[in-house]
Amino acid sequence: MARIYAVGVGPGDPELLTRKAERILRQAPVVCAPAASAGDSSHALSIVESLLDRSRQEIIIRVFPMRKDQDGLDAFWEEAAETVVSHVLEGRDVAFITIGDPFLYSTFLYLYRILRERYPDIPVEVVPGVSSVTTAAVAAGIPLAAASERVAILPATFEDEKLRRTLLDFDTVVLMKVNRVFDRVYALLKELGLDRKGAFVSRAGTAEESVTFDLASLVGKKLDYLSLLIVKK
Ligand SMILES: C[S@@+](CC[C@H](N)C(=O)[O-])C[C@H]1O[C@@H](n2cnc3c(N)ncnc32)[C@H](O)[C@@H]1O
Repeated sequence: MARIYAVGVGPGDPELLTRKAERILRQAPVVCAPAASAGDSSHALSIVESLLDRSRQEIIIRVFPMRKDQDGLDAFWEEAAETVVSHVLEGRDVAFITIGDPFLYSTFLYLYRILRERYPDIPVEVVPGVSSVTTAAVAAGIPLAAASERVAILPATFEDEKLRRTLLDFDTVVLMKVNRVFDRVYALLKELGLDRKGAFVSRAGTAEESVTFDLASLVGKKLDYLSLLIVKK
């Protein structure tokens, strides 16, 4: 029976794609790629484009709303699931690509929930990918955790009190989706005396990778969505 593959394509460098991901992407008759908004290109697709053969493979680019609050989007996800499932029922494997790893804050997870609830008989195989978290840590030269250190990974969009508690409790904190809330997070780091303990990493694992330790220099700037902040005490 045909199946759905959720393929993690890593952070950007095609060399950070697993051999399994490459094999599945070369074979799948249908490749589905998420885009942030209509007309946007898909970052995930750009990572694997060179492996695909458009004369043989159907590439579907779909807009997947990236909102913290997913309320009211059920109909949207159900429709997306239906599209994917219709290919599988006609005997075609679908590779749904996702940046980094599919099981870490990925858009695929909303689709995955619907697939499991509505179509429990459709096989879904998840192919892990190299996450932006580990790639960014390497780029910044900051080990995420050694020995008994504790690491937390969470979206920076949480309210201050939750962020404050996490920053106080853990040795290393990785804040994803930090671009739009950076100024607020920086103020919090300053309050906790951690403003010189962080690294802001953009486009880790790509040719445009950049690492900034001088966090004050980023205040008030428009920052890239593909960025995260690592705070290490
Ligand atoms: C929807 S999450 C996807 C995470 C992904 N599943 C992973 O494992 O890396 C998107 C967030 O991941 C982070 N991100 C993804 N790619 C990145 C990259 N190349 N460099 C830095 N951060 C990245 C950013 O914080 C971005 O806002």
